[in-house]
Amino acid sequence: MSKEKKNIKKFRGEVSRQNREYRNKHRAAVFWFTGLSGSGKSTIAHAVEKELFDSMMRVYVFDGDNVRHGLCADLSFSPTARTENIRRIAEVSKLFVENSTVCLCAFISPLLSDRQMARDVIGENDFYEIFITCPLAICEDRDVKGYYKLAREGKIKNYTGISAPYEVPEHPDLIVETDKETLEESVARVKEFILEKVKL
Ligand SMILES: Nc1ncnc2c1ncn2[C@@H]1O[C@H](COP(=O)(O)OP(=O)(O)O)[C@@H](O)[C@H]1O
Ligand SMILES: [Mg+2]
Repeated sequence: MSKEKKNIKKFRGEVSRQNREYRNKHRAAVFWFTGLSGSGKSTIAHAVEKELFDSMMRVYVFDGDNVRHGLCADLSFSPTARTENIRRIAEVSKLFVENSTVCLCAFISPLLSDRQMARDVIGENDFYEIFITCPLAICEDRDVKGYYKLAREGKIKNYTGISAPYEVPEHPDLIVETDKETLEESVARVKEFILEKVKL
């Protein structure tokens, strides 16, 4: 640890996370959505966010595409930059959890080691991994953003599933197979899972 860091002490405020959770009437935690591009992370996370928000919960989606415009705008898609991207999201969502917000983090986050790092940063008790899965061929067929086509043509480098690896979660807390169920079914299952975990 550097000398500077050793000399930085945390100020302990009078409003605790627990105080905030009681006021909001629910616990906070991070629900980490991982899966190939086009598997359904953003669609499900935003639909769940809307439903939880409408039921008066404090909830926020961190989405890969959005953070890369600001917080992580300086980062590329190289392995080191992807790790730093995940680290920053993990640190920010940890602050949101302290603020008693249910965080839905929708990032491809293809590497086991990066997801483990996020789990370590956020803490075992506040981290749930949701594996959004769908065969590559179907994700490619959906090609929501048109990037698979560009990746196949070699116009985008390091594209997960095409020219960069995706490491399947070993022990996800929830698996959602979006090629086998409708969006409504997926949203309902994820919502039910979250509500159970954030019950006070
Ligand atoms: N069960 C499902 N859950 C989520 N998305 C689904 C499902 N079935 C079909 N889709 C479609 O798959 C696409 C997923 O895109 P998106 O959410 O942007 O993926 P990602 O964020 O993982 O890259 C959307 O066009 C969505 O309508
Ligand atoms: Mg997305």
